[in-house]
Amino acid sequence: MADTPDTEYPSPLRRLGTRLKQKLPGNGNGGRPRSLRYAHLIGWGKYLPEKVLTNAEIAQIVGTSDEWIVARTGIRERRIAAEHESTATMALSAAREALETADLNPADLDLIIVATASPDHIFPATACLVQDTLGAVNAGAFDLSAACTGWIYGLSLAAQAIATGSLDHALVIGAETMSRMVNWEDRETCILFGDGAGAVVLGPSRKPGGVLSSVLGADGSGGDMLSVPAGGSRMPASPETVSNHLHTIHMDGRKVFRFATRVIRQAAIEAVEKAGLTMDDIALLIPHQANSRIIQSAARGLKLPAERIFVNLDRYGNTSAASIPIALCEALEEGRVEPGDRLVTVGFGAGLTWGAAVIEWMAKPPLERPWRSRLRSVLYALAGVRSRLRRWWRQLETWLFRPPAARP
Ligand code: COA
Repeated sequence: MADTPDTEYPSPLRRLGTRLKQKLPGNGNGGRPRSLRYAHLIGWGKYLPEKVLTNAEIAQIVGTSDEWIVARTGIRERRIAAEHESTATMALSAAREALETADLNPADLDLIIVATASPDHIFPATACLVQDTLGAVNAGAFDLSAACTGWIYGLSLAAQAIATGSLDHALVIGAETMSRMVNWEDRETCILFGDGAGAVVLGPSRKPGGVLSSVLGADGSGGDMLSVPAGGSRMPASPETVSNHLHTIHMDGRKVFRFATRVIRQAAIEAVEKAGLTMDDIALLIPHQANSRIIQSAARGLKLPAERIFVNLDRYGNTSAASIPIALCEALEEGRVEPGDRLVTVGFGAGLTWGAAVIEWMAKPPLERPWRSRLRSVLYALAGVRSRLRRWWRQLETWLFRPPAARP
């Protein structure tokens, strides 16, 4: 387990006891907080596809150059999902890593949120595919559509649900296969995006810390600035929508740029003030990785030096909802986050949406527990068997118990 002091992650027996107690009449929290609880980040994980697509390679597809892309965006390369990969498979890999660092079994999860703008399907939710493959049999699951801000929205909702006592453990994933959403003939958008997934596990603690505050915002009047026009109920798929590339990302880059520079600064300041802190208390800003010029402009506005801002977009481009959790994982791997540090995560995206969250990092590096990892591998294998058995049983049920024929 990520060795968080005083986290009160109960043993399986205690958890069972708590679950049973909550089911007794007169128990549970009756809609009120049981007591003051804090939502801590106790696990984290990321997944990036192997295939690297460099600017030079993109320059062979559209009229652009490595120099132009680096100068205007800061991006040098991005990752592209393999044919057999999708948002759900990448989300699953990040989720397993996050459960590993949290030393938590999938059945302990109460909620799975997948923030994504590129789900496997309109429905079923990608979160349900992840829930099934993980074997998270006690979890509710849904997708969250707030584009690049989605992971912050998910973090905020999950943290509040944990703080009020309505659930204990939540998995919040940001996962995207943006390479399948861009028009590879549009040089203004195809240079920007990449694929990947990042995930965190949140759990309860009585010790102050974890998600200290969050602010969320939206302005639908700017919806047309960044959109995928077709494929929904307003413009269903047709040969025309496909040939006109209306299922791909359409963007007014300059307008989005202006919106982003304004809103990052504003959201970060609001979240920090809401947490009762000042920018001087913040060890690291982890912004949505869209464009290095946007990040630099926000840094100037927030008066933060470069060493207190995390940037990895040169290697991954804009992975939309996945960008902040991936960056958080890399910041941890690089030793840029220490227990007790306060971080600000801040995002913006289509909708328009924006949001920021202040996190007090309480988790210590995870301990190696090989036998527990092996147990989880067995649980994942069993989840596959369980899923297949349930499908067969459903098939058998429809065959055995045919509904009575309608009477004339
Ligand atoms: N390679 C070469 N030239 C390009 C190009 C590319 N990939 N994309 C655009 N251009 C050209 C334009 O056609 C334009 O040419 P013109 O002056 O002859 O008309 C010129 O470069 C300047 O275009 P402009 O739109 O002013 O560039 P910019 O400095 O605003 O950079 C973006 C364009 C897209 C990189 C920038 O606007 C941006 O990053 N916006 C935010 C996008 C974003 O973050 N979206 C996701 C939000 S979650």
